[in-house]
Amino acid sequence: AEAPVYVPRTLTDAAMRAVHALGRPVVTGGEDPPERAALLRDAAGAAAVVCTVTERIDAEFLQAAGPALRVVSNTAVGYDNIDVPAATERGVRVCNTPGVLDGATADLAMALLLAAARRVTEGDRFLRGRPEWVWGPQMLLGLDLSAGATLGIVGYGRIGQAVARRARAFDMTVVATPTRDHPEGSTDADGTAFLPLDRLLERSDAVSVHVPLTDRTRGLIDADALARMPAHAVLVNTARGGIVDEHALAEALHAGRLGAAALDVFDGEPAVNPELLGAPRLVMTPHIGSAGRHTRDRMGLLAVANAAAVLRGEEPRAPVN
Ligand code: GLV
Ligand code: GLV
Repeated sequence: AEAPVYVPRTLTDAAMRAVHALGRPVVTGGEDPPERAALLRDAAGAAAVVCTVTERIDAEFLQAAGPALRVVSNTAVGYDNIDVPAATERGVRVCNTPGVLDGATADLAMALLLAAARRVTEGDRFLRGRPEWVWGPQMLLGLDLSAGATLGIVGYGRIGQAVARRARAFDMTVVATPTRDHPEGSTDADGTAFLPLDRLLERSDAVSVHVPLTDRTRGLIDADALARMPAHAVLVNTARGGIVDEHALAEALHAGRLGAAALDVFDGEPAVNPELLGAPRLVMTPHIGSAGRHTRDRMGLLAVANAAAVLRGEEPRAPVN
């Protein structure tokens, strides 16, 4: 029989139909992430793995999968869960899903920015605990985004640019960290000014993080970076938890050295650092940046299409290696 396709977690119906349409045997896990032992066992003999960010794909996994494995297709744009050099060394292609989740992730970044700036979740909690509330001229005052606030975008890739478009619609001034196409000191046609990170942090009323997690970006927003931000500033992270030093963030919030923060991603997911749970003025969501119904279908379909291309001996649409 042909080597199977392994899908460790059930994807959306549309994506699962596409998996079965590949015409190979399919091995699937359930809704929840498989235990490590089950992951390694079920990968054995697979030709393709269509996985998610919760599966750690390392040398041990590749070894367990065995020589039939030709492609690991991540249903995510980020691929810090995959040891890409180890895959490359074994001739295994790695693919991801860029482009299809930019809008959804940028939408969530704006939702978190608005929620943190205008104290939406705090207001919700306030109301539920207080049936006899009354409107107040100084109640729950927050940061005005539309009164000339500057948004600093750390990582001006596809998602960062989608956030910039949304921020401009809210009359915000946009600055961003430099890219290959946008050197430090330049300004693009949309009015985004490119500044080194230190200056961006000092100038921004809100900062939104959109870089991948790599050795270079781990802990990028540390105590020193947070100290550069104005005391009223809002920090939003929808990228990866490891980019922000969570201990330093909790301390800054407790000390009143940071206005507010909103996190969709956490270092050591699914665990949430208890220091964050106790921190004031912090909005949290459970890694739902790409969790739009349409977006999740598109991610799953692209991940399956990437795997299918490699199995046919063709170049995938979104290769990583
Ligand atoms: C989700 O976290 C992704 O990287 O797509
Ligand atoms: C507030 O409720 C206002 O009407 O300005």
